[in-house]
Amino acid sequence: MLKDLQTLVSLCKRRGFIFQSSEIYGGINACYDYGPLGVELKMNIKKVWWDSMVSRTDIEGLDAAILMAPQVWKASGHVDGFSDPMIECKSCKARHRADNLKDPSKCPNCGNSEMSEPRQFNLMFKTFMGPLEETASTVYLRPETAQGIFVNFENVQVSARKKIPFGIAQIGKAFRNEITPGNFTFRTREFEQMEMQYFVKPGTDDEYMEMWKDIRKNFYSELGFNMERFRFHEHGSDELAHYAKGAFDIEYEFPIGWQELEGIHNRTDFDLTQHEKFSGKSLAYFEEASKEKFVPYVIETSAGCDRMILAALCDAYNEENVSSDPAKEDKRVVLKFHPKIAPIKVSVLPLSKKPQLQELAHKITSDLSQNFRVQYDETGSIGKRYRRQDEIGTPLCVTVDFESLEDNSVTVRHRDSMAQDRVEMSKINNYVFEKLNQFGG
Ligand code: GAP
Repeated sequence: MLKDLQTLVSLCKRRGFIFQSSEIYGGINACYDYGPLGVELKMNIKKVWWDSMVSRTDIEGLDAAILMAPQVWKASGHVDGFSDPMIECKSCKARHRADNLKDPSKCPNCGNSEMSEPRQFNLMFKTFMGPLEETASTVYLRPETAQGIFVNFENVQVSARKKIPFGIAQIGKAFRNEITPGNFTFRTREFEQMEMQYFVKPGTDDEYMEMWKDIRKNFYSELGFNMERFRFHEHGSDELAHYAKGAFDIEYEFPIGWQELEGIHNRTDFDLTQHEKFSGKSLAYFEEASKEKFVPYVIETSAGCDRMILAALCDAYNEENVSSDPAKEDKRVVLKFHPKIAPIKVSVLPLSKKPQLQELAHKITSDLSQNFRVQYDETGSIGKRYRRQDEIGTPLCVTVDFESLEDNSVTVRHRDSMAQDRVEMSKINNYVFEKLNQFGG
């Protein structure tokens, strides 16, 4: 198990998963870039989530713009209510979230005891649309993707001819000027959300809330997460967002403790009703079967993509002593990703730099690349190369050795068990396919 985030931060940089944004300029706080392996991991996670949503006949997809009419954020309550109480240290000028301070009269940064009164600090980033930098042209970078779905409720319902209950799923960037970002990618100022809003008839909302709690829990379990590190936390009345009737967080046990990974909220008809008020347009739905007209309630599942990636990295991280001599230690670090999200599915390793082996290994790489994300690696001892692939979570390594030239077979080494199989080259594609699909099953 991963003991501290710092170990992961170094692995992510060393292997090319995640880098600090603008690093050569000293970095910009709470913004991160995904490197070659990170971007594969991210795309895989998004795809698994996306498929789990839009493969259902009752869910449609959407990709709304980041910039929206400013009235949207008035209607949603973000202009007036999306703020955290902030206290500033009068000495070092550090700003702290008032609700996070154990002792609001003492600065945790410098120890000074002259602190400002708490003041509300809006978390939305502002910019200007058009050539004039004036209040009238202020627009916001969306702080959640959800509002793009609410304002398109009718467009999607009518164009896709959906009947209630149905949902709309979306993946996209969101921005929050967090006062206390940190813990690597856990809380950043630019992040991606994977949200789904499920529109239901009022009165059926509790039932659908339970349904989505189950579906979302199963999602993590099917992806091979350790379910002992998962729990639901129900919001008490003092924690509920202004729009919510009920809310559950799916919490994950990160090295920094139990933290929210995803929220499942009963948003009632709050958002659609607010948009009706502010836009003057009816967003009521007419149910043919009952001849009833109503504004639907919304059950929302809202996951942070970057936070899910962080959880996947933490969950996959293992350190194992693989020494055959119990008196000695030979540590391997291995990321035991589910093959669906592993950035590289299979690596191809010629045992030596002998041209015949390289040629064969290149041919296998190019054949396997038709179906899988493959990495070719010929640098260093075979032991070192296995360790490198373990550390980036590659489920299978195909080694081309001298015997391969004679018997047209290769050795396949399995990441988790480290077992090795000899496989005929002509069958390697099917073999890899089968092993990746058998994982965990
Ligand atoms: N539409 C509802 C909504 O946005 P939220 O609980 O504020 O609800 C949902 O956010 C999810 O988005 C969180 O569970 C978390 O995974 C992710 N998230 C929120 N703020 C974040 C931040 N500053 N950095 C990274 N992820 C964040």
